[in-house]
Amino acid sequence: MKIAVVGTGYVGLVTGTCFAETGNQVTCVDIDKSKVEKLSNGQITIYEPGLEKIFLRNLKEDRLHFTTNLAEGVKDTTIIFLALPTPPGEDGSADLKYILGVADDLGKILTDYKVIVDKSTVPVGTADKVQAAIAKNFKGEFAVVSNPEFLREGVAVDDFMKPDRVVVGTSDDRAKKIMTDLYAPFVRSGNPVIFMDEKSAELTKYAANSFLAVKISFMNEIARLCERLGADVDMVRKGIGSDERIGKRFLFPGIGYGGSCFPKDVQALVKSSSEVSYDFEILNAVMKVNEEQKLFLMPKINAYFNNDLKGKRFALWGLAFKPNTDDIREAPALYMIDALTEAGATVHAYDPEAMPNVKQLVGDKIDFAESQYDALENADALIIATEWSEFRTPEFEKITSMLKNKVVFDGRNVYDRTQMKELGFFYESVGREA
Ligand code: UGA
Repeated sequence: MKIAVVGTGYVGLVTGTCFAETGNQVTCVDIDKSKVEKLSNGQITIYEPGLEKIFLRNLKEDRLHFTTNLAEGVKDTTIIFLALPTPPGEDGSADLKYILGVADDLGKILTDYKVIVDKSTVPVGTADKVQAAIAKNFKGEFAVVSNPEFLREGVAVDDFMKPDRVVVGTSDDRAKKIMTDLYAPFVRSGNPVIFMDEKSAELTKYAANSFLAVKISFMNEIARLCERLGADVDMVRKGIGSDERIGKRFLFPGIGYGGSCFPKDVQALVKSSSEVSYDFEILNAVMKVNEEQKLFLMPKINAYFNNDLKGKRFALWGLAFKPNTDDIREAPALYMIDALTEAGATVHAYDPEAMPNVKQLVGDKIDFAESQYDALENADALIIATEWSEFRTPEFEKITSMLKNKVVFDGRNVYDRTQMKELGFFYESVGREA
């Protein structure tokens, strides 16, 4: 099949590359000239484990192409994916200017039947708006389909190649057949392609992310309660997670969820709800809990240092909003950095991937370390903000000998409490007795 993917951001590049991987001819379109040049020359523009290898292979096999020219990109295609940004506007609602702009352009270009697929996370009713924008100038037949993505950064290739499910919103039978054929290689293990109407598909995406955010904030509140009652959240997590109705995953407490999806999507669903006079009470609470959770460690740190952080130095392990990514959007570590520096402390940070991004954002507000151990030099305590695997079994003797005090504040419950006690650390984590 011949496919165009408009937008070569995170979703677009993964989508284009993975469709090429199953033998389709894919042209990715982007207005950013330098990005298109880089990608055409085999320079990948995002960090995503496993992506570069298949990107280079499909580029070499001539199945993956890049252009800035929309008309050239969509020529002779059957399907056009829209993978464009939908940044939150000031009021929290998703801004559709990029998507509707391209829809408008498509209306002027199209000459024959095409399936136009919304891959971006868009508010309910966007497919109708895209339909109308194209129909303004194109009087032929076409279908607008909602096909939300459920990729997790860090494992996006796997999520794309072996999805739990594919959600397709369309009322057009021709489009249904085309989408079924396109996704057949991805659901061979028997996972479903679930067809529904466009609006339900659009809402499914927000409902999925919001539900996962509910799970996380719920566990963060259980963790707070555990500390007050003397219970251990790890045990409670295991205790409830083995009930299949609850499920084991996404029950890990910590210093809050971040990234480009959960915060934005929860906020957007609250906003969409209010537009139809509905107050989504649970999600309001989820947002509040998450905001507080990002600074969950601060009272513990303040208590240890008698509310005097002036001149104290903190080693900070982890800056990305989660492991295996260099993404720092809404990363809890950034909130910690602000709180610590505002209190007069200095921060010596290490992250395997995200340091360049943080440096660009905060400049020399903090120091950056060469290695995780380098960050410990002269530090009064170690703080863990992201659970990279290399932080899980460190050389504890090295930590002990380099830190000024044997003090660890763990925002991701990476270590065993008993072991830390045996090693002589003052150790605080989330929802487990100190
Ligand atoms: C999320 C969803 O998981 C994807 O299904 C969805 O496609 C994507 O958003 C999107 O809308 O594009 P992602 O933002 O990459 O994916 O990250 P997750 O792995 O879901 O983690 C989100 C945040 O939740 C992270 O900050 C993580 O640390 C936190 N988290 C996750 C917890 O605090 N506890 C958990 O148990 C799980």
